[in-house]
Amino acid sequence: MRVFVDCDPGIDDALALAYLAADHRVEIAGVGAVYGNTGVESTAENAVRLLQLFGRPETPVAVGAARPLMQQPRLARHVHGDNGLGGIELPEAAKRPVSESAAELLVRLARSAPGELNVLALGPLTNLAVALALEPRLPELVNRVVVMGGAVRSPGNVTPWAEANVNNDPEAAEAVLGAGFDLTLVALDVTMRALATESWLEELAALPGERAQYAHRFLAYYVGWYTSFLGQRACPMHDPLAAAVLVDPSLVKESETVPVLVELAGAHTRGMTIADLRPRREETSRPAVVLPTEVDVPKFLSRMLRALA
Ligand code: BDR
Ligand code: CA
Repeated sequence: MRVFVDCDPGIDDALALAYLAADHRVEIAGVGAVYGNTGVESTAENAVRLLQLFGRPETPVAVGAARPLMQQPRLARHVHGDNGLGGIELPEAAKRPVSESAAELLVRLARSAPGELNVLALGPLTNLAVALALEPRLPELVNRVVVMGGAVRSPGNVTPWAEANVNNDPEAAEAVLGAGFDLTLVALDVTMRALATESWLEELAALPGERAQYAHRFLAYYVGWYTSFLGQRACPMHDPLAAAVLVDPSLVKESETVPVLVELAGAHTRGMTIADLRPRREETSRPAVVLPTEVDVPKFLSRMLRALA
């Protein structure tokens, strides 16, 4: 499976990259970096170093957008640390980011083998929206898109109604959700239930090997923040769950196929994802996306441990 990963590592993005890198069936054809959890210079540098750490040093990493299409970015350094990895310094990598932008790299990879590339979007959707502007046929050129983002039946995380990736660039998210991709939206509806619990974290801590040890160290910062957010020592595995669903769609036990729009104008609700959940919808030209509502969390968490071991 050929995958382009667009991401903002980011502690859970880092774990998603580890998950993919551990699977020999996955060819990580390219990685795009975007602002989000921290600034894009840091997310790009983190991506290069993480790919080296996880045994995929040859993967091209392209620097993408430094800011959303129409607003200022809202970086999540309070959740991921100033450097995006909870302050943990990774060994320097020999490789540098490529000279193409993330959107250019995505378009080139998609054109090079029509119908083969899968896209995993783990950050604000700015790079994908720019790629769509460069190549409007992108939905026909790529196979599947899996996006971590949105909150349909669940509350938001950065505002009462909006999830961080969509909220950072609502215009970009609206363009991507309306473009006609074969798209699965892994929203907070399911990721907030994919919790790494205290016992899971203990199992991780006991695993030997560099990969598991780094994962454990990154998670200290993230778990610290989420413990006060959730009121229990645990953290949601947002981005790794999206990676796992891309690789194995059978992890999704229940889903709905519905049009999802992004609120662009609301005084209080900008960045909210709204699905038409009515059982009898009128015909609309808006393409539907797959919205998982139930995933196999125990299977996912045990696969996660296996990937990090
Ligand atoms: C999403 O926002 C980011 O902070 C995480 O990496 C994840 O992609 C969760 O809302
Ligand atoms: Ca992310």
